[in-house]
Amino acid sequence: MNQAIQSELIPAQGAVYYLFGATGDLAKRKLFPALFSLYKEGKLTENFAVVGLARRSRANEQFRQDVYESIVEFCRYKVDDTELWNRFAEHFEYMPLDINNVDAFRELNKLTDELNRKFDIPDNRLFYLALAPSLFGPVSFNLRDSGMLEAKGWTRVIIEKPFGYDLPSAQELNNELSQVFKEEEIFRIDHYLGKEMVQNIQVIRFANAFFEPLWNNNYIANVQITLSETVGVEDRGGYYDKSGALRDMTQNHMLQMLTMIAMEPPSSLNGEHIRDEKVKVLRSLRPYATSEEVRANVIRGQYTSGVVKGTELPAYREEDSVNPESTTETYLAAKVAVDNFRWAGVPFYIRTGKRLPVKTTEVVIEFKSMPQNVLFAQRHDLSPNLLVIRVNPMEGIYIKVNAKTPGADNEVQPVAMEFCQSCQIGLNTPEAYERLIHDAVRGDSTYFTRWDEVAQAWEFVDRIAAAWKESQDDLHMYPAGSWGPEAADKLLAADGFHWWPVNGQEEDNVIWVSNSGK
Ligand code: BG6
Repeated sequence: MNQAIQSELIPAQGAVYYLFGATGDLAKRKLFPALFSLYKEGKLTENFAVVGLARRSRANEQFRQDVYESIVEFCRYKVDDTELWNRFAEHFEYMPLDINNVDAFRELNKLTDELNRKFDIPDNRLFYLALAPSLFGPVSFNLRDSGMLEAKGWTRVIIEKPFGYDLPSAQELNNELSQVFKEEEIFRIDHYLGKEMVQNIQVIRFANAFFEPLWNNNYIANVQITLSETVGVEDRGGYYDKSGALRDMTQNHMLQMLTMIAMEPPSSLNGEHIRDEKVKVLRSLRPYATSEEVRANVIRGQYTSGVVKGTELPAYREEDSVNPESTTETYLAAKVAVDNFRWAGVPFYIRTGKRLPVKTTEVVIEFKSMPQNVLFAQRHDLSPNLLVIRVNPMEGIYIKVNAKTPGADNEVQPVAMEFCQSCQIGLNTPEAYERLIHDAVRGDSTYFTRWDEVAQAWEFVDRIAAAWKESQDDLHMYPAGSWGPEAADKLLAADGFHWWPVNGQEEDNVIWVSNSGK
């Protein structure tokens, strides 16, 4: 059954949402706006309540005002209906909470009983831990010890990334959580899995006869995944300096996108079946056997001062809360091998970096070139066919094919045929967090990461981190506003490939046929 249809059949049920970290940035930028969009679209039933929890005290009215301001600033919907807003806001309560005090959780239990009665909620409980990972354990234990988990209905917990710092710390975190919650109650967020176009990868692959039969090492030359950002580390220098692009982006978002591209067709669209296939891909990633192999296949870089979109910007080492001698990578490019029957011999090139010239996430599938045939005997520069999936901020797909230049003898012209989803007027694509919160409320964990996926991804990444720890002399510096270290280009050049231009860098000689008006 089609996933969309299947999703519609599982209705959202009334629940109390407990938002730990309710005064934080994530709640403000993503969670309140997501809840409002869901409410406006009728995807939340009326029998729900949101309890904002954080250390500082705040009156309910002030909390609702904060929620209002965050929605005005960050929500894709305008708050233009006062009656709707008032009805929505009525469901929000604030309670100051010292997370080390179990008695405070008992108070929360009492508040829950009141809210269940007031809104006729069937005692379902969703805990959203928008907190530092070191607090997941203490919060979980106090939830258990205070009786908060003895609900009559279901209990679920949403955990924000990062899920650990390496495999041992992730394991420890998971051990703590699993003393309190069952695996099926734990929803680990990777917000890239909530993005429309990442979910669309499955549809593009499994619903198109002209892609899936070619989706293997007979026809695909290489796969490229780019996740470039123009931002630096903003006010997260303290966190980022300990994480870097390897832990912040690669262990999760990059490898998750790779699994969506490389996985085998699942036996059904059941979430467990999909995640079974994804974890098989992660198990097939060829580990780099030695530090030399890491150096040969993984390029790391750090930005120096430079200009992005006309603005002069400082070097990474000059950012707030960053060690002035930091060797943390703000850029990573890697050649990854997926050692299975389907992909043997097809390199997956991945790259991500901060302070690059454009913000874009794109996947390029480069098909193998045609043997030069009679018709094109004079031509040796035929461009390969590409399938490009644009994930964000532009959303859409295009295929690049070769066609005859009208009027010329055997002249070939690359033509890009594009469906630009985000250019469609009136299409207001849901934010990743909307989709994910809605899924969690419906108990659908397809687009959340299961523990075995997280563990496999850390295992792969930890080898890179270990090699990097030995010496830092392979850290390449790149100016802010550039496309990163040259070494990343050489990585592909050594195999006879190059990075294909991403959004904003289109090649001149291509004819575009697009609904974007290009
Ligand atoms: C987060 C990372 O998970 O993803 C950030 O911690 C990064 O460093 C962000 O900027 C990128 O997400 P998006 O949705 O803006 O591409």
